[in-house]
Amino acid sequence: MCGIVGYIGKREAYPVVLEGLKRLEYRGYDSAGIAIYDGNDIKLCKTKGKVSDLELKAKNDIITSGNLAIGHTRWATHGVPNDVNSHPHYSNSGNLVIIHNGIIENYESIKQELIKRGYIFHSDTDTEVLVNLIEDVQRNQNLKLGKAVQIALNQVVGAYAIAVFDKNKPNEIVVAKLGSPLAIGVGEDEFFIASDASPFLEYTKKAIYLEDEELAVIRLGKDIKIRKIISDELTDTYIQELQINLEQIVKGGYDHFMLKEIYEQPNAIKDTYRGRLLVKEGIIRMAGIDDNLDRFLNANRIIVVACGTSWHAGLVSEYIFEDLARIPVEVEYASEFRYRNPVITNKDVVIAISQSGETADTLAAIKLAKQHGAFVFGVCNVVGSSIAREADAGAYTHAGPEIGVASTKAFTTQITVLTLIALKLAKANGNISTSNYQYHLQELELIPEKVKKALESDKHILEVAKMYKDAKNCLYLGRGYNFPVALEGALKLKEISYIHAEGYPAAEMKHGPIALIDEQMPVFVIATKKGHYEKVVSNVQEIKARKGKIIGIVTEGDVDVKNLADHVIEVPDTLEALSPLLTTIPLQLLSYHIAVLLDKNVDQPRNLAKSVTVE
Ligand code: F6R
Repeated sequence: MCGIVGYIGKREAYPVVLEGLKRLEYRGYDSAGIAIYDGNDIKLCKTKGKVSDLELKAKNDIITSGNLAIGHTRWATHGVPNDVNSHPHYSNSGNLVIIHNGIIENYESIKQELIKRGYIFHSDTDTEVLVNLIEDVQRNQNLKLGKAVQIALNQVVGAYAIAVFDKNKPNEIVVAKLGSPLAIGVGEDEFFIASDASPFLEYTKKAIYLEDEELAVIRLGKDIKIRKIISDELTDTYIQELQINLEQIVKGGYDHFMLKEIYEQPNAIKDTYRGRLLVKEGIIRMAGIDDNLDRFLNANRIIVVACGTSWHAGLVSEYIFEDLARIPVEVEYASEFRYRNPVITNKDVVIAISQSGETADTLAAIKLAKQHGAFVFGVCNVVGSSIAREADAGAYTHAGPEIGVASTKAFTTQITVLTLIALKLAKANGNISTSNYQYHLQELELIPEKVKKALESDKHILEVAKMYKDAKNCLYLGRGYNFPVALEGALKLKEISYIHAEGYPAAEMKHGPIALIDEQMPVFVIATKKGHYEKVVSNVQEIKARKGKIIGIVTEGDVDVKNLADHVIEVPDTLEALSPLLTTIPLQLLSYHIAVLLDKNVDQPRNLAKSVTVE
């Protein structure tokens, strides 16, 4: 995890790096730090807490000017979050300064070797070990920094995106990547370094995304040289023109990114199917599927690998792939899949779903699948992300940047992409009638307007949130396509309000969870008209009989659940397969309002990070 930022050029480096850290704070916010170099002195300021705490401390420490700076916002892995463990870290001589996103797994053995050679360590971090290893290599073999970094990295096991500079080389920063993301912004006589492009968008749209096992020496007045860390080969420097705008990543008048992103869903879903869904022509155009149609049609099964909310989107897709395309699907937590020696063959298609495209477990799962000959298809939001690059083919969700740690628009746009794929395959393998196919296309096109309609209940949802904000436990129930929505609703509530919540298939209640029901227990029940409605109504009756508080998510005009429930929140009618795109909206808003009412940090909930690049 963690976010890294760097600058070298003609500007004052401090404001560039500080603002960059603010944009990357979604990646971790346990502590933050910055090192500035003016060619004579290095000034280093770091602190436990957020980037705003760093800013305050830097003011008191009277951070002065300099044209080179590196900064870090941390999500702690080795060592508790405190000032000493914060990055950047010095080497023992004080000449090298490093920032690091990732984990050095064999740091303890390297540390012991370095201690034997007289090195002293001040922090508990793996990063301080790495910078001293680089120094040791540099000193013993009298090497330039780039070479020393390369040799040191060949000795470490783990994941990293690093930036390091040497006091003796004021015009140079060395960066390297394995497993964690690293982008270089290329300006006029200036370079930017960051975990994603957001810190440098207002300065340059030219970016280089380092590949795994690549190292770049960034030197003012020189072209960037990129090498493979193991083979030492020079690689081509591919500079790409970024399409993303800065306005896309600021709050745009909303109190929180999460709320902004909830409200962006009508447009985000439209952006996801734009150019792909051609209703009049009855066509779904997706190059990643068209080019590999045989792989999908001849697949024994589809295995979906993902984590968290993306895993819930995968569960929704299991229903739609099996229901419409009649292709067997297994949905796996990537973290379990990668370690349980799964049976994978070259007749399997693995779909990896990831908003960030950087989730370490998902990345490892697809690498494993590829080793066994499976065809890997990525569904990612972040363009150029590691999973997008590692996959054999893929489809982007085009949701735009998701900054709030709690995933919202990523979920609905993932479901949109997966629905398009399932419909396309169902058409191709003849398992859907032309009229049913066409009906799904028409209904999918209407979803953005219906999401807008669902958002209109926001005020009512706020009132419901006020009534249940003090609950200690909540249950979420759904059946069929809406069972994963119940899981997702519970996850949203717990991650931002810290209220314990569980999602269940409604019919599983009687096998245990019903024992929890009493008059203190709010139960959120998804009970839309299409799909098991009568059965869910029976489940609602069972809850009512035990005095549970019932909040129904129902189809507009519903009568039966309304008569039983304490409150209902209506969503527009649609096909059962598309209903998760609507039923999830009120649950997102409920979680949001409850968290705000409880005065929680909605966009940066405790202990979490947006992009989980450690396992
Ligand atoms: C929940 C949430 C996480 C992510 C999970 C996977 O709101 O954001 O559960 O869904 O960490 O992340 P990605 O989709 O980036 O692989």
